[in-house]
Amino acid sequence: MSMIKVPTQVTLVEVGPRDGLQNEKTPIATSIKIDLCKQLIEAGIHRLEAAAFVSPKWVPQMADGADVLAGLKALPELQQRKVSYSALVPNLKGMEAAIEAGMQEAVVFTAASEAFTQKNINCTIAESIERFKPVAELARAHNIHLRGSISCALGCPYQGDVAVQSAAEVALRLQDIGVQEFDVADTIGVGTALQVGQVFEAVAYRVGLQNVAGHFHDTYGQALANILAALQLGVSTFHSSIAGLGGCPYAKGATGNVATEDVVYMLHGMGIETGLDLNRLVQTGAWISGSIGKPYISRAGRAVWSKLNSEVQA
Ligand code: HMG
Ligand code: MG
Repeated sequence: MSMIKVPTQVTLVEVGPRDGLQNEKTPIATSIKIDLCKQLIEAGIHRLEAAAFVSPKWVPQMADGADVLAGLKALPELQQRKVSYSALVPNLKGMEAAIEAGMQEAVVFTAASEAFTQKNINCTIAESIERFKPVAELARAHNIHLRGSISCALGCPYQGDVAVQSAAEVALRLQDIGVQEFDVADTIGVGTALQVGQVFEAVAYRVGLQNVAGHFHDTYGQALANILAALQLGVSTFHSSIAGLGGCPYAKGATGNVATEDVVYMLHGMGIETGLDLNRLVQTGAWISGSIGKPYISRAGRAVWSKLNSEVQA
């Protein structure tokens, strides 16, 4: 029997429609965003970050979140699918708009670094927690699952190194106000596997392993190794972005999240269930990359894509 223990099932929260698209400078048609979400759901995604109810002055690309959710809810082919739609909400105004739009999971977001929090949401970490209190109250009243995203848990573009305990301390403060799930984020993709073990262990010790999710950007090519490190601790929820799209507007040089296709290929290869159809994800990844004029950069995606195409030609 293998000594290496990993979960038998993993849930992927698809963040492509939000984290993947938010950084695109050219406006993307709402219809393309809806089509992207639809294809992801048809590939088996059941937790989908579809929107951000943030200031349109700060992130113009996310201004049509309510229309994206309305469009998805109107599609007859998705009526039978049980999908939990999530959205970023920086404050009460965003939360009210997201509830109105019919979102099921709210994501408040702060950071393990003061400097990044200031650049991203224009306040200190302590002020952000204060701002989230009424959001958490509304979440409770509406039975909305509340996640808390902790950026820069493994390094900050402004501050540099971030102490191992920083994310855990923020997680505890978020838990105090009612956050239920903790998205530990490597915003600029600088972390490496042993550091992931330490940081995730510290967070899990405070808030419970089952409540921790990993959110890895792949800037330095470390994301799969980092996911494996977290899997070995027992983490079983990860965020990923179709085609590896994305980046954070307030973290210069940060590239996209780990590609969903790459994670699914790795997990399925390890015998871990995801409920996802890799071929359909690859078709979606190739399509959305082309639609927004980007090369298709998912490594597993490109390999599967060329295999699918050679089978069609044979
Ligand atoms: P502010 O300027 O300090 O706030 O921004 P304000 O309260 O003074 O509001 C300024 C204007 O924004 C006002 O409008 C408000 O009404 C409006 P005006 O009177 O000037 O016309 N406003 C809003 N409009 C729509 N929806 C709202 C909203 N709130 C205020 N919710 C604020 C503070 C937090 C609003 C701003 O900094 C903001 O929206 N930041 C969002 C930044 C963002 O979206 N970053 C990217 C997502 S985070 C990320 O990618 C990291 C993650 O992936 C994890 C990781 O990888 O690390 C999650
Ligand atoms: Mg991110």
